[in-house]
Amino acid sequence: MDFLCKEGNIEVSSPSNIAFVKYWGKRNFQLPLNSSVSMTLEKSRSNVKIDFSLKKQASSTNRVLRNFLFEGKENEKFALRIESYFQHLKKDYPFLERYEINVFSSNTFPHSSGIASSASFFSALAGCISFLLIEGLHEHMKTEDTFEKQDSISTISSLARQGSGSASRSFFSHYGQWSTSFDEGNYAEGLSNIHPDFLSMKNSIAIVSSREKRVSSKAGHHLFENHLFREQRIGQGEKNFEMMKTILQTGDFKSFFPLLEEEALTLHALMMTSRPGYMLMLPESLQLMNDVRSLREEEGLEVGFTLDAGPNVHILYPEREETRVMSFLNDKYPHLNQEKLVIHDSCAKGAILVNKELRY
Ligand code: PMV
Repeated sequence: MDFLCKEGNIEVSSPSNIAFVKYWGKRNFQLPLNSSVSMTLEKSRSNVKIDFSLKKQASSTNRVLRNFLFEGKENEKFALRIESYFQHLKKDYPFLERYEINVFSSNTFPHSSGIASSASFFSALAGCISFLLIEGLHEHMKTEDTFEKQDSISTISSLARQGSGSASRSFFSHYGQWSTSFDEGNYAEGLSNIHPDFLSMKNSIAIVSSREKRVSSKAGHHLFENHLFREQRIGQGEKNFEMMKTILQTGDFKSFFPLLEEEALTLHALMMTSRPGYMLMLPESLQLMNDVRSLREEEGLEVGFTLDAGPNVHILYPEREETRVMSFLNDKYPHLNQEKLVIHDSCAKGAILVNKELRY
């Protein structure tokens, strides 16, 4: 156990991602039922700092988390989730119990925006924790480095997956693929040879509602276990995954938007047809989606939408359409910009190391 670092602190900044082909349904411990692919975002990020030290020999507690602060405030519910994540990791890394860890987290997007932060948070936390668990990693990494070049990236991505499935994809610049063929979905990888138009893709996120979801993704995944359309969805998801990767590499926008929208609407159709069913879209989501479609089908703009598990509409378009999409939003939905209810995000690089101090 000599390699154990005595104390130190690590800070990682990690982006959220938006899935173009959705992960829905899991087996065992957060292994996905179908493959998914996502775009890494720039502005929607979590910053997580851990400070840690080896427990005193006499310590009798098996808790790993000492304290958790989100934007300077305690959050007991989330602290419990972090502690249970640490307890889960201890099965593979028992020496984690020898540490006590403080976790400090903040988001670059307003936490009331309804943007899911579990992907950005758990990838940032896993990035921090990986320095304690993966021997030798610290020798290679400098600040501002992304994790994707590390030899141990599959293990790091797997660590994040165990906190939140979609977090496994946030380490990769531009696009992350989480395939069921990667050791049954144990980890995600980057997707290379992306067409330049997809590298500079834009995503304007319209915040239709910032209220907490009535049904969490965790409950949604659970309801999918006995879903009537389960097998069809798994087959559709795998096919769409292959098609989407080809589209991203060839720059085929004509096929892209219908497939993107099919995936979003399938996800919500599955929620609506669960037993019991539920609906997360709101009237304004529908209005925006219809308007975005008209913009494409009637006015010829290269634009489309997707949704995450919530009512907010992600409007996707290549950089060359930015001016026309902005004037559409200003003309038809002026309150979005005025009330800061839209985040103009774009495709970007994955999680980066911000700072590390390790004392042996
Ligand atoms: O990462 P989780 O377990 O919260 O599940 C998220 C699932 C979706 O966001 C709806 C889709 C996806 O692939 O990101």
